[in-house]
Amino acid sequence: MPPRVIVNCAMSADGKIASRMRKQVRLSDEADMARVHRLRNECDAILVGVGTVLADDPSLLVKVKYVDEVKQPVRIILDSGCRIPREAKILDGASRTLVFVTEGHAADVPGAEVLTCGKERIDLNGMLAILGDMGIGTLLVEGGGRTIWSFVSAGLVDEFKVFISNRIIGGANAPTPVDGEGFGEENEFTNIRLVKTTMSGSGVLLEFERE
Ligand SMILES: NC(=O)c1ccc[n+]([C@@H]2O[C@H](COP(=O)([O-])OP(=O)(O)OC[C@H]3O[C@@H](n4cnc5c(N)ncnc54)[C@H](OP(=O)(O)O)[C@@H]3O)[C@@H](O)[C@H]2O)c1
Repeated sequence: MPPRVIVNCAMSADGKIASRMRKQVRLSDEADMARVHRLRNECDAILVGVGTVLADDPSLLVKVKYVDEVKQPVRIILDSGCRIPREAKILDGASRTLVFVTEGHAADVPGAEVLTCGKERIDLNGMLAILGDMGIGTLLVEGGGRTIWSFVSAGLVDEFKVFISNRIIGGANAPTPVDGEGFGEENEFTNIRLVKTTMSGSGVLLEFERE
């Protein structure tokens, strides 16, 4: 069975997930960081697009200080052309790491297993089937905007969680939680059901589920 897909991201009060320089900015406060690390620890795998690896160089590890018992999830990168920098922190060997590439782009990536799935872009349904066969039951998608768009546009999102911070970033070109092409017509929009709102430190957490 394919995994349950949970999207989690943090955005500014004006709906941006990074600055116009596309560099990581601190949006989660300490209370939200603790929530994110607990959520990571509960999931079997965490996924980002290669754009996030190139921009932010995240390690995607669970920090010991936030959880009682660390259970590092599998780390997954969508990377059609296998562009991942070989010195990326995510390749540090600290937990199992999978790089999904498209046909003809498989290459050696020390610190990761390289899997081929798709022709132009990673075929998300095919990838979810592979992950399901590996026993991955929950997949946390952390970004960035193009990656989240590809899950949303394919109708694959079961839960959508967004922490809204008290910062304003601005900029027409600053990335947002769901970028990519976007839906053109109102009848194409994805409706999600608000299930919980939580005041958290300096911001608010909104939790939605598939309608
Ligand atoms: N605030 C937050 O919570 C948060 C979290 C994460 C990231 N961010 C921000 O998000 C920004 C990066 O976002 P981004 O949109 O540029 O990049 P991204 O979503 O991280 O990565 C997009 C790339 O993934 C690859 N890809 C392969 N298969 C794909 C598929 N099926 N669907 C979508 N992408 C696929 C594509 O590159 P190839 O064609 O080369 O494969 C695509 O360009 C950064 O500024 C980062 O700071 C913010």
